[in-house]
Amino acid sequence: MNDSAPSPTDLLSVGDVSRRTGVSVSALHFYEREGLISATRTSGGQRRYARHVIRRVSVIQVAKRMGISLSEVADVFADLPPDRMPGKTDWRRISERWRGRLEARRQEIERMENELVECIGCGCVSLRSCRVLNPDDELGADGAGPRLLPEIPTD
Ligand code: FES
Repeated sequence: MNDSAPSPTDLLSVGDVSRRTGVSVSALHFYEREGLISATRTSGGQRRYARHVIRRVSVIQVAKRMGISLSEVADVFADLPPDRMPGKTDWRRISERWRGRLEARRQEIERMENELVECIGCGCVSLRSCRVLNPDDELGADGAGPRLLPEIPTD
């Protein structure tokens, strides 16, 4: 047996992982289908998880709480060795990356909030003048009149 391979007693059932993380069995199966965690199978086909999977599930729970998508979790997990627990350095790198993500979202919310302030007491909901409804107003610079209609060839 390989020294780094977990012994059978180190492996956890899906119920064990569910109890230890508070995550439902169906969610754990979903995370496995999404490639976020992996399991081996017993001869009877039952899933067995290495203990470090608990840490991965915890990181997924943190991400969910912060509104970080599972695809972003998959991105950071792709940089981790699959056979060990994410360590302190890994977590620092992940949390710094996600902090930047939250900061970008905070700025976006602040920008939207400022735009919405202009709408308070207005109610025009006008394509011409409401920046919330038409934030980029790309056509506004071209002046009045419709410009999204297809050109009709004239012979
Ligand atoms: S509703 Fe009038 S500016 Fe937005």
